Amino acid sequence: MQKSVQYFCGQCQKPLTEFMDIQGQQLPMWHCESCEKAPQSEQIKQYRWAYRLYSFFYGPLAVLNMYIIWHGRLRPLLKWYLDTISMATQGSLLDIAIGDGELTWFAGKKVLKNHRLIALDLSREMLKKCVRCLKKAGSHEFILANVEKLPFPSNHLHSIACFGGIHVFQNRIKSLSEIARVLQPGGLFRGSILTRPKSVLAQKICNYYVHLGLLGSSPSIAEIENDFLQAGLKINKLQRNGFMLLFEATK
Ligand SMILES: C[S@@+](CC[C@H](N)C(=O)[O-])C[C@H]1O[C@@H](n2cnc3c(N)ncnc32)[C@H](O)[C@@H]1O
Ligand SMILES: [Zn+2]
Repeated sequence: MQKSVQYFCGQCQKPLTEFMDIQGQQLPMWHCESCEKAPQSEQIKQYRWAYRLYSFFYGPLAVLNMYIIWHGRLRPLLKWYLDTISMATQGSLLDIAIGDGELTWFAGKKVLKNHRLIALDLSREMLKKCVRCLKKAGSHEFILANVEKLPFPSNHLHSIACFGGIHVFQNRIKSLSEIARVLQPGGLFRGSILTRPKSVLAQKICNYYVHLGLLGSSPSIAEIENDFLQAGLKINKLQRNGFMLLFEATK
């Protein structure tokens, strides 16, 4: 029997339902059945295909890209992530674009059991990997949804994370505005963003990733600051990690 969760689709307002993966194994993943059955836009199809393929080798490729193209180091990123999970004191942490969950687990394995994550991603394959990865680390919820239509009421969440998602989203301002809508006043929004690298070769590789649907854009720091402002988010802290930005914002 299908169970329904307390969340309602941000697109059609129907309750989200639990779904099974292709092997028929029941996994605690939730989605909007009618929106998933409806035809998807070409852009969303492209992203889902790109991340379906990327999900096979995501971990090593993501780390290599971070080092080589964005000159980012793992230690400050993991520390920022751990602090973000630890700061999520009021109930749950919504982790948007959580991907395969490896980074979340690696950064937060010591504290994850004390927190409830709401793990959200657009890619079914990434989310399935995430379920398997985080099953060993406490009791969490997994939601297949688009950041542009979050299945939560306004001012609902005190703590939101988005690591490696904002530069991937198809529409940065729409996504950030939706995050601002569900964030409580005084709540914290923390994460990481890959900004435009300096070298021409790295920029060419970024453009190719945009073409493939693995990246949405390659924004400058000024563009990011402007997007946050337009979305109604105030940046409290910015820390550079190579061409990666670690941020904390409120609304
Ligand atoms: C680069 S990965 C980041 C994964 C993980 N947070 C990490 O740092 O390793 C970007 C993730 O964004 C997800 N994504 C892309 N577009 C999205 C959207 N519109 N809504 C929600 N997630 C999206 C992709 O499926 C992918 O898992
Ligand atoms: Zn729906």
